[in-house]
Amino acid sequence: MKGVVLAGGLGTRLYPLTYATSKHLLPIFDSPMVFYPIQTLVKAGIKDVIIVTGGPYAGDYIRVLGNGKKLGLKHLEYTYQEKEGGIAQALSLCEDFAEGGPVTVILGDNCTDADISKPVKKFKAKGSPSGKGAMVFLKEVTDPQRFGVPVFQTQNLKRKTQNKITPETHKIVKIEEKPKKPKSNFAVTGLYIYDNKVFDFIRKCKPSARGELEITDVNNCYVKAGKLAWATLEGFWSDAGTFDSLFKTAVYWARKKGLRIY
Ligand code: DAU
Repeated sequence: MKGVVLAGGLGTRLYPLTYATSKHLLPIFDSPMVFYPIQTLVKAGIKDVIIVTGGPYAGDYIRVLGNGKKLGLKHLEYTYQEKEGGIAQALSLCEDFAEGGPVTVILGDNCTDADISKPVKKFKAKGSPSGKGAMVFLKEVTDPQRFGVPVFQTQNLKRKTQNKITPETHKIVKIEEKPKKPKSNFAVTGLYIYDNKVFDFIRKCKPSARGELEITDVNNCYVKAGKLAWATLEGFWSDAGTFDSLFKTAVYWARKKGLRIY
């Protein structure tokens, strides 16, 4: 399985911090933000990775990451997104790199200590439970309005499991991007596994109201095809793209790495 880290975009939500650098090079305690998503891939056994950068500071990534060996990568490739055309547009630049195979994708501002090696292995062997397709990872959050949010339909409900939301009892029938009134308390995190059909689906997408090719539209193509599986992301997860979350993410990792904070 090959890996994709999406680190384009301008990080405007973090102005003025991102006036003179890329969001993904900002510090999360003792490491640049982009180390965390790369480490998530390496922990899952994914060591052949492409990173999509963009904006005026793309050259700095080579200085920070080099050939990726120090982070445990076997091969690191770079590509450049010319405009901030959205997450799906950034992913479309990785089609040649994927060489017809599946890819595990992580957003450059997603920092998690979850271990996704099992789902990655399973997907490699069988694809999603309904054959090839895609898998998204969900996390329960208190502020779903900030994210892609799944709409569930219940299935196979037995009394005992009625209150528990699991892939067996709750099927995703739609994902809504940043809904004002979220229909669940789950965020679709920025970690995805796709078969190679993803690139065809991206070609069919139209820019959203904010002028971007949305990854949520791509995921909804898989929903329509009946090929979107989901799993819960176990452990800490945060998208560090706002002041709040940048700070909270740094505190989490500082504590995890042994710093005592009162
Ligand atoms: O973090 C999870 C959320 O990420 C999901 O729940 C949403 O469904 C998904 O749309 C995304 O939402 P955000 O609004 O947080 O995405 P943002 O524009 O901050 O972009 C996240 C990362 O994607 C960013 O750190 C780098 C990459 N990206 C983004 C854009 C717009 C690119 O590589 N190129 C781009 O043009």
